[in-house]
Amino acid sequence: MARSLDCTSLLLSVVLLSCCCGLSGAARPAPSGAAADNMSFVRAWCAGTEYPALCDETLFPYAAAVGTSPARLAWAALNATLAGARSATKAMKAMAAGGHLAPVAAEAAGDCVSMLGDAVDMLRQSVEAMAEQADEEEGQATQQAKFRVDSVRTWASAALTDDTMCMEGFKGEAAGVKEAVRGHVVGPAHLTANALGIVNAMAAQTPP
Ligand SMILES: *[C@@H]1O[C@H](CO)[C@@H](O)[C@H](O)[C@H]1NC(C)=O
Ligand SMILES: *[C@@H]1O[C@H](CO)[C@@H](O)[C@H](O)[C@H]1NC(C)=O
Repeated sequence: MARSLDCTSLLLSVVLLSCCCGLSGAARPAPSGAAADNMSFVRAWCAGTEYPALCDETLFPYAAAVGTSPARLAWAALNATLAGARSATKAMKAMAAGGHLAPVAAEAAGDCVSMLGDAVDMLRQSVEAMAEQADEEEGQATQQAKFRVDSVRTWASAALTDDTMCMEGFKGEAAGVKEAVRGHVVGPAHLTANALGIVNAMAAQTPP
């Protein structure tokens, strides 16, 4: 009885396996071997972030460089976040200097530029710390490594607060101005949330 059951389930899995492998092979030309593995590593980690589609889009180009290292993935995510925060700062500086804003909005724009500047500083430190982390032996749970990851979590979450406060500073302003600010800052804010999610997941993996 037990033996025949085993035999049936074995047969079933063989049928299922060949059926599904055939199907996925036909559905789309999957990248072969190592490339596919690298992509699925990025996709698996991105799935746990707040904006997975943005995460995939931003980090797939770095899949080969990331390999299967969480620290390298976090490093790449922070790189992208820093670049986004820098361009948002530039855009908000131009808006503040443009002279087209009502006094209250102009003041909000000035505050936003200084908050985004702080965010850039914290993200730059985060990138440096994560670069060191990535250079170290994989899986080394030293006190120093833990301190570095905790610092990055603090900095990235402060950067996210700065992005959010910048946008909130325009709450009472005209819809056009509000939308323009959102257009500059929401992308970097989402990148920051994603990078923070990756770093948090990485910290959760490291034994205390
Ligand atoms: C996948 O990642 C490994 C480790 O970083 C790398 O050596 C390899 O070249 C990558 N393969 C592809 C095809 O991207
Ligand atoms: C992050 O950016 C630096 C400087 O541009 C680059 O050298 C490094 O390879 C990047 N890291 C990753 C993981 O993409």
